[in-house]
Amino acid sequence: MTAHADFGLIGLGTMGAMLSLNMADNGFRVAVHNRTTSRIATFMDEAGELASRFVPCDTLEAFVAALKPPRNIILMVPAGAPVDDPIEALRPLLDSNDLIIDAGNANFHDTVRRANKAEQDGLPFLGIGVSGGAEGARFGPAIMGGGLKAAWDRVAPMLSAIAAQYEGQPCATWMGQDGAGHFVKTVHNGIEYADMQLIAETYGIMRDGLDLSSSACAEIFTAWNEGALQSYLIEISGKVANSVDPATGQPMLDVILDSAGQKGTGRWTAIEAQMLGAPVTVIEAAVAARNLSAGKSLRQEGERLFTPAERSLPTDTTLNTDDLRDALIAGKILCYAQGFDLLEKASDDRSWNLPMPDIAKTWREGCIIRSSMLNDMATALEAKPANLIFAPYFADLVSRTLPALRKVVVTAAGAAIPVPAMAAALTYFDTITQSRGTANMIQGQRDFFGAHGFQRTDQEGTDFHGPWLNQHLK
Ligand code: 6PG
Repeated sequence: MTAHADFGLIGLGTMGAMLSLNMADNGFRVAVHNRTTSRIATFMDEAGELASRFVPCDTLEAFVAALKPPRNIILMVPAGAPVDDPIEALRPLLDSNDLIIDAGNANFHDTVRRANKAEQDGLPFLGIGVSGGAEGARFGPAIMGGGLKAAWDRVAPMLSAIAAQYEGQPCATWMGQDGAGHFVKTVHNGIEYADMQLIAETYGIMRDGLDLSSSACAEIFTAWNEGALQSYLIEISGKVANSVDPATGQPMLDVILDSAGQKGTGRWTAIEAQMLGAPVTVIEAAVAARNLSAGKSLRQEGERLFTPAERSLPTDTTLNTDDLRDALIAGKILCYAQGFDLLEKASDDRSWNLPMPDIAKTWREGCIIRSSMLNDMATALEAKPANLIFAPYFADLVSRTLPALRKVVVTAAGAAIPVPAMAAALTYFDTITQSRGTANMIQGQRDFFGAHGFQRTDQEGTDFHGPWLNQHLK
């Protein structure tokens, strides 16, 4: 076989198949392989008129032989061991400048490990986060790259060609060394969880508090998509709310079980945030809400055991859908502020030098959290504010929408409607805008029981103790 394919792709699941078609659409010749080889033939059938741009390969040997050197190989397989296996199997077949790119949703720790191993062996390796679901993979995802810059530069023209474009700028960016790309993708997913949870909470108030039908909710989401909340997630929320179940004629939302799955990237974000001491409370609330959603039988038992709360708002409530919209704007900004703070902390910790404004720019198109607000965030982050909400544009927007967030959280609490992400956003705001907090009590307690020492408000130094020291031991 003559080596004529520009790229190789292993893993013809939905994402891999769509990415391959995207590459072929952009004029690249792609060698494809899949562990279960029967899938290769199905894929070739599905490829239609693009089939001539693919080289189907049943074995890794044939796959490697089909690629033009230096070879560029994309792995689009489930995270974990399925990534290590083809790397192990490929390495003996490859030359020293052949590049392996893991484009799956890897845990960035695995990517760091794989990048270090590749570096020791003198072999190029990239870990890239690809966002946008199947549609994004097919027609233009957002791509967050990590690994050797020279390796990125080698494939950047192809990745830019297949990526989403925002006003002519490709949403494909090198974020930094080793696991930087996969870390940025993980935080993207954490924000995705929070964005979705915030929207679900506004839906909950509309449904239970304001007694609105699914189609009425759909209209509201659709209207919101024209304003400051314009985003893919609001758009699809309107479409989901507007859909009818063909089997029963009921609104789709009324036949979908209130129990959400997760593959774990939101949890990874929360775990990394804890390790770095970054408060991503809105994301944590969203992950916890998914966990609680999965405990349907527990919630049913709880409802049986305790007098069911009246979850509707009083008839004279002044809460309206404009309040919900503004609360969502404030909640969203506060959640992104936490996400960018986490990225900053990780960047310092790992010496990645993450390009904060470019991260926001990369997320403007193609990815699941794409929204018009990200363009304003990119601009705001150029000035390196200590917190996103301190940037003048967002300070103003948060000041104007925060009263609605407070009203929504207070009203929802009064009506026993859970709004964990909204409440977390509000509490985060109240905390970062309160110069005198309550940790003096914590420090007093720590010193009392463990002589941990504290700082004083009126003197320099870090190791003061209270008059209680050792007294309680006497
Ligand atoms: C994306 C998404 C994607 C993610 C799914 C499901 O950016 O395209 O984040 O990578 O895997 O949305 O995620 P959960 O199963 O964890 O909800």
